Amino acid sequence: MKKRTAILISGHGTNLQSLMDYTQSANYPAHISLVISNNKKAYGIKRAKKANIPTVIINHHDYTQRIDFDRNVHDTLLHHGIELVCLAGFMRVLGDDIIQYWQGRMINIHPSLLPNYKGLNTHQRVLDAGDTIHGCSVHFVNATLDGGAVIAQSQIHIYPEDTKALVNNRVLKQETILYPKILDWLASERILYDVDNNTATLDGDKKCPIIFPPT
Ligand code: GRF
Repeated sequence: MKKRTAILISGHGTNLQSLMDYTQSANYPAHISLVISNNKKAYGIKRAKKANIPTVIINHHDYTQRIDFDRNVHDTLLHHGIELVCLAGFMRVLGDDIIQYWQGRMINIHPSLLPNYKGLNTHQRVLDAGDTIHGCSVHFVNATLDGGAVIAQSQIHIYPEDTKALVNNRVLKQETILYPKILDWLASERILYDVDNNTATLDGDKKCPIIFPPT
């Protein structure tokens, strides 16, 4: 049985599109069964509707308490029989309770080589620092922002003539390849999250993060 998977978005939905495309294939172990956005204008909602995937808008402005927003997200996931959750450009920080419930079943994609450059504006910070290697990470979500065990990373070279826009394009391209691969591993139960040590392993004995070097 394909794992019922929800994607949480806030914006353009490039990663969502890639996940929807990959999960079409008959042998893929996950099915995108729900898209939640906190932003009703998110272009990703249009993409999901086009693909006939149920969408739910949960606008954080409608809630004075974060816990009530989280509870609605959580209840919506349960209502749709969701087993796995992918955050894909979801620009809200979730609280400890919902994170704890979904621990080991909720992953995020982040545009840097974690633990470097947690938070926002990663590409500019990488350029400002003069780094020559950059990339993206898929990690388990835990109570520390961008701090859950990293499952895998895809790297790119940074060139002297690079700009934020160029770097964004190249990293995003890698994200659209990496995220479906990791969801495949997670849905086929090839990755194990050791919550107490905040570490992950692939196929029993391979220590994460799995690194895909620049091509
Ligand atoms: C990506 O760079 C992702 O890593 C970050 O937000 C961006 C989302 O882009 N968390 P999109 O909505 O998938 O186009």
